[in-house]
Parts: sequence; C-alpha cells; structure tokens
Amino acid sequence: MSTVPSFDFLTPELLREDLTSRFHAAFGASPEAGAVAPGRVNLIGEHTDYSQGFVLPAAIPLYTGVAVGHGAGGELDVVSSTFGAERMPSQGLEKRGSFSDYVAGAVKLAGMEGLGLRFYIHGDLPAGSGLSSSASLLVALVTALSRLKGEPLEPMAAALLARRVENEFVGVPCGFMDQFAVAMGQEGAALFLDCQDNSFEAIDAELPGAEWLVVYSGLHRKLASGGYAHKVDAVRRAVSVLSLKHDLGEGLLRLVDARELEKLAAQAGLSPEDVALLVHVASENKRVFLMRHALQRKNPEEVGWILRDGHRSLSLDFGVSTPLLDGLVEFAESIPGVLGIRLTGAGMGGSLVALVRSQDCRVAATALQTYLVEHISPEGRVFAIGQPAGGVMGWTQSY
Ligand code: GLA
Repeated sequence: MSTVPSFDFLTPELLREDLTSRFHAAFGASPEAGAVAPGRVNLIGEHTDYSQGFVLPAAIPLYTGVAVGHGAGGELDVVSSTFGAERMPSQGLEKRGSFSDYVAGAVKLAGMEGLGLRFYIHGDLPAGSGLSSSASLLVALVTALSRLKGEPLEPMAAALLARRVENEFVGVPCGFMDQFAVAMGQEGAALFLDCQDNSFEAIDAELPGAEWLVVYSGLHRKLASGGYAHKVDAVRRAVSVLSLKHDLGEGLLRLVDARELEKLAAQAGLSPEDVALLVHVASENKRVFLMRHALQRKNPEEVGWILRDGHRSLSLDFGVSTPLLDGLVEFAESIPGVLGIRLTGAGMGGSLVALVRSQDCRVAATALQTYLVEHISPEGRVFAIGQPAGGVMGWTQSY
C-alpha cells in the first residue's frame, strides 16, 4: 500500500458499477436506483454548527455508495460490505442500535415504511473515521430512495432529510455541517456555511505550493456514544442561560468577542468549564472568517497559523482532544514543511487535517504514516486528498 494513496482507484462512476454487480450477486436481481456520496473534512469551524455559527468544510474523494431495489416480502434486506447482512420487517421501524438504524430511519422518514426493499452498501470511506461516514451513508440512502420512489430529491433537500434521520431516528443531536457538506460539495472548493440560515458560498481551497492532507488517526469515533451529545447539551444550556440573562439571541456566539464573553458569562454565573466551551465557539466563529480570507488571499502561511490556533482552542478550551492526538499534532508540527494541523470533526479520535508545502509533502506524509502505525494505531492512514470532491450523485437505473 502506498503511503499517500491516490484516489484514482475509486471514482463515483466506478463505485456505481461495482455496486450494481455486488447488488446482483447478493440478491440475484439488478438494482433500480442508487447514489454515491463523498465524505467531508472540516477546514475550520468546529462545534459551531449547533449554535448557529459558521463552518468551512469540503467534500473529499472517499465515498459511500448505496444500490437499492424493491424486494418480494414486506422486509428490509440490507447488505453492507463493512457491517454484514441484516433483515427486518419494514413496518413499525424502530431504532435497534445497529448500523441498519440508518437504513430504517431513512426508509421511515422517506415515507416508504412497509415496502419490501433491498439495499447494498459499499464504499471506501472508512466508518467511524471522523470524516462523516454516517452523513455520507444517510445522504446516499435518502437520495437513492427518492430515486426509487420517482421523486428525486435535490442535494439540499437530501441533506435536510438526512439530518432529520440523525436527529429524530438515530438520536444524535448533530448540527447541519456534515450532511450539508457531503450533499452540496463542489470540486476544488470548501463551503462557507452560515448555520443560522443555511446560506453558503464556495471558496476555492487550492493554495499555491501547498497540499491538503487528511490524517485518519485510526482511533475510531462514534457520535452516538454520548460524548458529543454531552458537549452539545453543555453549549446549548450555557447559551440559553446567557441569552436570557443578557437579552441576546441564541446566535450570540457569532457576535460576541471571546473576552466580552468571559465578562458576560461571569455575570450570568456560568462555571469556568462552560465559559471555556463558549470561548472556544466564539473564537472559532472568528477563525472561520479568517480562514475564508486567508484562502481568498491564497496565503498558505496564514491558513497554517489558523489551523494551529484552532487545534489549541479545541484541545485547551473545548476539551475534545486526547494526549495521543495532541502528541500526534506536536510531532506533525515538528516536520519540515507542515504549515499547520488540527483535529477535524467532533474530536476524541477520528481525523486531522493538515496543510503541507508541496515540496515536502511526500516526506511529511511518510513520517506521519510511520508515526501513526508506531504510536497510535495500525489502522491510521494518511490521505492526500488533492482537490475537494463534488457532492452526492443519484441515479435511476435504466436497462
Ligand atoms: C460532528 C457533527 C457536526 C459538527 C461536528 C463538530 O461531525 O455531526 O454537526 O457538530 O461534529 O464540528
């Protein structure tokens, strides 16, 4: 395996072909519809989406694909190349605590409960890597189902429905960043999203003389495991205390300066732990604007500085890094040519995003790969993402 894998081996088109033959082998019939969705890496704007803040994610060329067709009985027949096979009655769908919850939730919220349906799920986006594997799966599922139904969803509508499945069926109180990024991705661009009204702007993510690396630590993360919900809850509670006390709106963390915030929070009697969480969010919202500006100015040094600052804030104020991940960041920062690196996504495992000078990229990636395997996990992988990818692609099979 090459240290810095290229993504030439699995395009959305190849994945579609592969899915069609896998579906056929599993069910002895051809699929009727399908969809392929990318993963995402967030450049900056972490834990800001669920308090009406700003984010700047990009879709990456690692994919989840879903092929779907009608089945004979009133059952959902699900085969995943990663998680194995499951079958369940299609009526009265409820959460069971397994990977098929995503399928069941998508079927239920798409209004297709009771129908006999078959699914084949396959791709190269590693599950639990902090690169939005669940959003990618859900956006692909709702898009494929909408095609099967003959009422194709636009990507934004698919993203909104996928988020409802996460929030209402799977029970993860996530914001909108992940579903939005994997549905709406644009080749070569990061997406500046305002989570207050979902308005967005594509920002060219290419930087002269520098490359983006995605570093999967190999430490599995699971949003459903509770740590994420705990942070979301703490931020939301602290925001509502502050907004009541000072008569500010729920979007106050997009407005208030971090130092001003400390004063307001002390007056409202918030704990130092809660203040630290809010200081991260308020300063992170500012970093999203700084990052947009640095990308527009095509200034790799500034981008690197913002990444490093963002990691420190996530680690010291927001508390979602770990000693192992901080050690990885410290090691990466000592490698010549690494301009900046930070944890991306929810944290406590998962992936990091780094900007590296092109001339040093191969050597830096090799050093990182070796460090991952020796110090963190044999599953750790370094990906040179090249250009950000386009968003979800759905199809109806024609024979
Ligand atoms: C997860 C969630 C997102 C967002 C990030 C943290 O990826 O799904 O909504 O909150 O964590 O920025």
